[in-house]
Amino acid sequence: MNAQGELENKVLIITGAASGIGAAAARLLASRGGSVALLDLDVARARDVAKECSAEGSGRARAFACDVSSREQAQHAIAMAAAHFGRVDVLVNCAGIFPSSPVAETTEALLQKVMAVNFYGAVHCAMAALQVFPDSGGVIVNVGSGAASRPIRGLSVYGASKAALLSFSRSLALELAPRVRVNTVSPGPTETPGAEAAAGDDPRALERKRQGISADTPMRRLACPAEVAEAIAYFASDRSNFITGQNVHVSGGRYMP
Ligand SMILES: NC(=O)c1ccc[n+]([C@@H]2O[C@H](COP(=O)([O-])OP(=O)(O)OC[C@H]3O[C@@H](n4cnc5c(N)ncnc54)[C@H](O)[C@@H]3O)[C@@H](O)[C@H]2O)c1
Repeated sequence: MNAQGELENKVLIITGAASGIGAAAARLLASRGGSVALLDLDVARARDVAKECSAEGSGRARAFACDVSSREQAQHAIAMAAAHFGRVDVLVNCAGIFPSSPVAETTEALLQKVMAVNFYGAVHCAMAALQVFPDSGGVIVNVGSGAASRPIRGLSVYGASKAALLSFSRSLALELAPRVRVNTVSPGPTETPGAEAAAGDDPRALERKRQGISADTPMRRLACPAEVAEAIAYFASDRSNFITGQNVHVSGGRYMP
């Protein structure tokens, strides 16, 4: 099936859409005809991405300020998006943070924040989306992480937040079938502004990290955001109509379940 135009007449909400994978997903979904609502803490950057989406796609695009860790803000932003576009068909939960912190040095505030954004944030948005999805259906795509399956030094709390999200996705898929489909896209290391910032200020350290990851990845490189966005677009579209409760790794073979 040709993917071009497959999202025409659909309205898709993407959280964390101001940067990295979320921004790439918003651009791709818009280029396939979807109208996109870009939710992010950084609404100024989300507006810039929305402009690109409007220029590239045939649908409409609009940015909404939202901290997904707040249930009230998630509900408000999703209700606003539904009112603006007149419907909501798809939710892509992509907002996330991945601070590296050894367990012994992890503060209570950091522990709470990682869980609040990566796990509760997706739950808040799913609950809000269920209130505005059409009676005939709806689709949720959660962006997980290979870190849920494979331990990564310094990312134990992050990995646990994504493992919680994966478990939630599966249970939700069971609970909501056959009306709503729920799937997970789990990226491996991906070249994004967030990943670059997490690696620190030293460009040589960043390059060493990149080389180490590439050597340990069958495809011998990191992913680019657009490659992860392809999997998100697949699960968002009717091409995956009979697939729910699944988790796909986009990791160049780094994670093989
Ligand atoms: N980059 C990677 O290597 C990688 C690997 C596996 C999984 N992931 C996951 O992919 C997703 C996107 O990561 P990325 O690398 O594109 O990161 P990024 O930092 O480039 O983009 C993340 C976006 O989320 C937004 N955000 C953060 N907290 C938010 C909140 N509370 N409410 C709303 N928006 C918020 C940020 O403002 C930013 O625009 C995350 O869930 C991340 O865990 C990334």
